[in-house]
Amino acid sequence: MSKQTTEPWIWWKHGVIYHIYPRSFQDSDGDGIGDIRGIIRRLGYLKELGIDGIWISPMYKSPMVDFGYDVSGYREIDPTFGTMEDFMELLRKAHDSGIRIILDMILNHTSDQHPWFIESSSSLYNPKRNWYIWKDPILGSPPNNWKSAVGGSAWKFHEQSGQYYLHSFFEEQPDLNWRDAELPNVFFEEMKFWLDLGVDGFRLDVINMIAKDKKFRSNPVAFGIQAFQKHIYTRNRKRSVTVVKQIRELLDRYDDRVSIGEIYAQPPGDAKTAAKYLAKGKDGLHLTFDFSLIFTTWNAHSYFKSIKTWHDSIPKGGWPCNVLSNHDLFRSIDRFPWRTNREEKAKVAATLLLTLMGTPFIYYGEEIGMHNAHIAKSQIRDPIGKRFWPLFNGRDKARTPMQWVPETKEGFTTGNPWLPLNKDTRLRNVRQQEGEPSSLLNLYRNLIKVRKTSEALQKGSWLPINNGQDGILAYLRNTENERILVILNFLGRQKTLSLQEHTYGKILFSTHQSQDDFNYFQKMQISPFEASIYQVIE
Ligand code: NOJ
Ligand code: MG
Repeated sequence: MSKQTTEPWIWWKHGVIYHIYPRSFQDSDGDGIGDIRGIIRRLGYLKELGIDGIWISPMYKSPMVDFGYDVSGYREIDPTFGTMEDFMELLRKAHDSGIRIILDMILNHTSDQHPWFIESSSSLYNPKRNWYIWKDPILGSPPNNWKSAVGGSAWKFHEQSGQYYLHSFFEEQPDLNWRDAELPNVFFEEMKFWLDLGVDGFRLDVINMIAKDKKFRSNPVAFGIQAFQKHIYTRNRKRSVTVVKQIRELLDRYDDRVSIGEIYAQPPGDAKTAAKYLAKGKDGLHLTFDFSLIFTTWNAHSYFKSIKTWHDSIPKGGWPCNVLSNHDLFRSIDRFPWRTNREEKAKVAATLLLTLMGTPFIYYGEEIGMHNAHIAKSQIRDPIGKRFWPLFNGRDKARTPMQWVPETKEGFTTGNPWLPLNKDTRLRNVRQQEGEPSSLLNLYRNLIKVRKTSEALQKGSWLPINNGQDGILAYLRNTENERILVILNFLGRQKTLSLQEHTYGKILFSTHQSQDDFNYFQKMQISPFEASIYQVIE
């Protein structure tokens, strides 16, 4: 008889989350932009994939300068995406299918069209003046050297009132003042609005940037270049940790809700900074992205080091989450170097993502291996791309429409898509991969299935059995009841893996079908780019 584990199944911890960029997932009204009714239409697809929750990038009222990350009404759905009734229907139908809904919440800034900012900028004496960050010029110049994350000074001069306001991103995205006495509680009411409606949690945009230095000290310059700086006075101030605690308190007044922090670390992939915001018990966020898997090069030992650093940083009671790609950091399949065997590498990476300890996040289209698309200059929509072309053509390449079927007009939209579909849609799409047993899509589906039937894959500890030096990463996932062995060959060569003791195992999953169902092994031959999962019997 197997012993029962005491930990109950927790959706945000043991389940799988799918990230939707709503403009690009499914259009329902032919305007070429994805919308809520489109997501409703695809709930069956998501259910079949086996995911437990979706995080949807912002759908609030917005002038769309930064495609929704500039909010002008936190309690409203932008008409581009539909209506409040559509949203409620999505929430209800998703819940009926056992899928939770996580919204994106943007605390650092609003749109300059938000009524709060319009009031705040109307006069020096407006009661909402201090809800944003206003400062007098110093000798006709900005108050300090702070830089915007999208280039240039973070200060914009406002002629009418003779002061500068702070914008850590675009000038149409003025920063809120989280040191104001009133603003935090007003903002929490906006979050409460969605929690009361039944939303299951929030992904918190750049949460470690929300508080700035009280004294407005200039940041030190990095690499001796004025344009670069060490963000010591603009990120990770104590006050942001305090706000995080308040958010947690708010969520804890409800059942089963989640908070996921986007940590804008320097350097990116800094596990220690991401871990600072994680719950130690109940006083921090449930999950934070450290992005270390994104900033690791294709090498088993590098992954081993990143994963170990991430796990070692996590406070007791905290839980990691893992992600390969998102709407800012591009498609993972094109990141695996040398541009060879990308499909095989994507399969190894998917197995890693879905067997590591921590909550896996899948970026829409990753499950069919969508590539970064080629975006011509005239097609660029991302303001960062417009600003920096040709040095950098922006983030559109990872935001192109979901590739559902080979025929363009029957898939994402019947109209003209807001971004072009990737040219490979005819060959790479959901319909084609559904019919092909060895496709990436079927691999994701199988992996999620295997994960669902295994207590250790969902809840177990992570115990590396080697450090990846030899091109192979092997680890155990253990609970009291179950031991799972995962073997990942990062190389295009056959390798031998020696285990310390003889092991008898049942194969649960393999990219290489020739493996026997049961294996008694100590020395194993591992095929090129093989990813296999065994249940260890003895
Ligand atoms: C991070 C978001 O992921 C990104 O898309 C956005 O541009 C910035 N935050 C500003 O909100
Ligand atoms: Mg539409």
